[in-house]
Amino acid sequence: MELEKIKKKYKKKIKEILTYNENYYDKNDPLISDKKYDILKKEIFELEKKYDFLTDENSPSKIVGFRPSKNFRKIKHKVPMLSLSNAFDENDLINFEKRISNFLDKSNNFKIEYSAEPKIDGISASLIYRGGKFETGLSRGDGKEGEDITENLKTIKDIPEKILGTNFPQEIDIRGEVFIQNSDFKKISDKFANPRNAASGSLRQKNPNETKKIPLKFIAYTFGHEKNMKIKTQGEYLKNLSKWGFKINPLNKIIVGVKNLLENYKNIEQKRDSLDFDIDGIVYKVNNFDLQKRLGNVANAPRWAIAHKFSANSGISQILNIEIQIGRTGALTPVAKIKPINIGGVLVSNATLHNEEEIIRKDIRIGDSVVVERAGDVIPHVVSVNIDKRKSDLKKFTFPTKCPSCGSDTIKEFNLITKKEDAVRRCSSEGYECEKISIEKIKHFVSKDAFNIEGFGKKIVENFRNLNLIKLPQDIFTLDYDKIEKMDGWGSQSVSNLKYSIELRKNISLERFIYALGIRHIGLENAKLISKHLKNKKKFLELSKVDNLDELLNIDGIGETQIKSIKNFFNNSTNLKVLNNLQKILSIKDAVEFKKNGLLKDKTFMLTGKLEGISRAEAKSLIEQNSGSIISNISKKLDYLIVGKKPTKRKVNTAKELQIKILSQVDWFKMLNKRS
Ligand code: IVH
Repeated sequence: MELEKIKKKYKKKIKEILTYNENYYDKNDPLISDKKYDILKKEIFELEKKYDFLTDENSPSKIVGFRPSKNFRKIKHKVPMLSLSNAFDENDLINFEKRISNFLDKSNNFKIEYSAEPKIDGISASLIYRGGKFETGLSRGDGKEGEDITENLKTIKDIPEKILGTNFPQEIDIRGEVFIQNSDFKKISDKFANPRNAASGSLRQKNPNETKKIPLKFIAYTFGHEKNMKIKTQGEYLKNLSKWGFKINPLNKIIVGVKNLLENYKNIEQKRDSLDFDIDGIVYKVNNFDLQKRLGNVANAPRWAIAHKFSANSGISQILNIEIQIGRTGALTPVAKIKPINIGGVLVSNATLHNEEEIIRKDIRIGDSVVVERAGDVIPHVVSVNIDKRKSDLKKFTFPTKCPSCGSDTIKEFNLITKKEDAVRRCSSEGYECEKISIEKIKHFVSKDAFNIEGFGKKIVENFRNLNLIKLPQDIFTLDYDKIEKMDGWGSQSVSNLKYSIELRKNISLERFIYALGIRHIGLENAKLISKHLKNKKKFLELSKVDNLDELLNIDGIGETQIKSIKNFFNNSTNLKVLNNLQKILSIKDAVEFKKNGLLKDKTFMLTGKLEGISRAEAKSLIEQNSGSIISNISKKLDYLIVGKKPTKRKVNTAKELQIKILSQVDWFKMLNKRS
């Protein structure tokens, strides 16, 4: 009872401070004096210190710096604000360049010019100029929708209100980074955890006068939508930015070749400490805008750019234990529990050991002294063992041959692509039968890119599963809300919120549905491809008939590995039950087509032979972007057969027999008003 009283007292104080915060930050109308506010904050801290079971996400101990406002107007970005994929070493860069050459159908010695730009670790912002006037400024938000922080951005001196230059586009969304210089941060470092936090916190104040107090800087580096911009390369764009009155990074460079990228990377890494702003890597962008356009995006990152991250901070610690985590696809990942150490401002107590092979190769043992590395937002990992420090009684680590969760045998599969045994050991049970895997599968099912059920976090999944409230995905839609309402930590409001977010997601796109099933090797991108190809749920469910699987081979990007995995998925009776149940409960929407009225509207195409200067993947995506569709069998339904070099004769002959129009690459480009 006593404990209940303490909890109540604590929650009451949190509620109080929440009201004061809202009035202060969002409504700009403080209810109490600063002094009284500080006393309340101190009381909360003291309670938390005394009783470690007291915690609340709204506690001032969880909020660093000023609490940002919730009250900004949301505005959709006309062009989404993407993120970047990461590269860590030379190999990643070589692969990046290879992927580009392949996509563009160029040989490996095709010279690609890059714009290499130090990656400032701040907060990105989008500035919309119309007629040379800064009109609206948005935060990145979730990439699709940002917050209107115009007034706050207007307080930043580096952001020009009017552009005087001659060739400034009629309308343009200029994008760049808002940050705080290290020397300025020092003056306010008692209020914020780090410079990035300071920039983000002050940018999102309700009252622009609060933002103005912090000396924020802005560096421009890209754009979203634009009207009438006649610039052809990133290098030229950066030069123009400078002419128009924006600051650009003085260390930007145009570079050709991976070797030269690496040299520049090393030079800048050496300078890193002497710079007055934090950088966490270098961004490489294909310099030519036409090539960028052709390359397009994969998922939510451009194919034409990559962030080459600086090497990690590292530290030395001791392995206290090795635990085996089981992932959604059954992979057993060994994780080292280490004596907590501070690496680059973050307290690290777990470090991944990747897989069994890694442990054997590095001969990592419990008790060893090890070097642990941490790079940016990547999971810390064990780099090496200090063998000199090893005590003689440490035993070799033996990897479990049985799954620690369900007891099934663990296996190493043969990889069809590398033609080698996998480095990863997996639980051989087929998914939902293993408790740990099933929990991970459900976490994936409700996650952001899948069903995106708000408020259904990882902890809730674990909790509900432990209480047997959910075992399979469909159970989410038939939850016993009365029971949940009576559980600790729940009340009528939180239950009705949960119910609402679950109901909302009963309507789902086919691609999200496919992705949510968590079929191995079917990530977001592949789920999109399959959904686009099959178009509706009926065709997807029919994949359970083995004969239908071959159809998927016609999709570029889907290969044997994926097909095998889909086959395994449909061979499992629990999966079939899950599918059957879900399709009854849900309304799964048909795939939406690209442009509705493009130049190739209602026309079907098939490709045979090699095209020049364009890969098959790009050719297909070009057809689809212009509202045409690809079909994989010649029949009367086919309108055009595009014939490249060395075509399959049989296809050409059949097309002729069926009087299907045959197009050369030039003819096809003409249809698209495109020159080769
Ligand atoms: S280009 C699609 N250029 O990095 C291209 N981004 O992980 C994405 N960033 O959110 C933006 N310096 O905040 C670009 N020279 C630079 C950059 C840069 C820093 C940040 C930006 C973005 C993040 C992507």
